Amino acid sequence: MSLLTINGLEKTFKHGSTEEKILKGIDLDLSKGDMTALVGASGSGKSTLLTIAAGLQEATGGEIIFDSENLTALDDEQVREIRAKRFGFVFQQAHLVPFLTVQEQLELMLDTAELKWSKEERRQEIEDILEKVEMQHHRDSYPDSLSGGEKQRVAIARAVIHQPEILFADEPTASLDSKRSKEVMRLLTSLTKESSITVLMVTHDESALEYADYTVQMKDGLIEYPG
Ligand SMILES: Nc1ncnc2c1ncn2[C@@H]1O[C@H](COP(=O)(O)OP(=O)(O)OP(=O)(O)O)[C@@H](O)[C@H]1O
Ligand SMILES: [Mg+2]
Repeated sequence: MSLLTINGLEKTFKHGSTEEKILKGIDLDLSKGDMTALVGASGSGKSTLLTIAAGLQEATGGEIIFDSENLTALDDEQVREIRAKRFGFVFQQAHLVPFLTVQEQLELMLDTAELKWSKEERRQEIEDILEKVEMQHHRDSYPDSLSGGEKQRVAIARAVIHQPEILFADEPTASLDSKRSKEVMRLLTSLTKESSITVLMVTHDESALEYADYTVQMKDGLIEYPG
């Protein structure tokens, strides 16, 4: 079943009086529960595609249909709400809030997603996710006392704690060594598969591709289909 459908997506950036077309008509379909990896040379438009699909910036052409709603036709507030409640994000850097503990980072995410969970449900979900990412013992730690891999594990917990429908990940393992990358990919896959969360992941990491159900290659603003 298709959850996100991208039709003829275009993005043009203006540089002074010149224009550059970065996305030249992208068609892509994400099925519920699948992990799709987006690969391609630096500058081919992967992050641009991911951020537009996630409603973080606007397209200049084409449409994005999420769960039969046309994202491109919604106003900023409606897109913000979908992003907060139904999407999750992981980037190359963990982007944790420096003055919040690990537990508080997760609470903030639940507040933002405005879930109608009881205090007890929240406590239980936070407990469960901390256990899954093996960070229970760091519940009260601040980000600056965590290693890169630990920070990224918290970022993954934060990205899925509100049980989003789609997780957008832009090079989630790029700042980690190969051992930590594997660990992060293993967690990301198990957490998303167990809740049938659909994943769109940009990566340059060959070993991350093993976890993907599909790999899509981008070249010069277009998707290259084999054959
Ligand atoms: N806000 C912007 N304004 C102008 N040009 C932009 C903007 N964002 C991206 N670009 C340009 O669009 C092109 C594609 O960028 P994008 O970040 O999508 O590439 P990428 O495939 O993610 O590359 P990388 O693998 O290096 O992350 C680049 O030439 C970039 O300079
Ligand atoms: Mg990029």
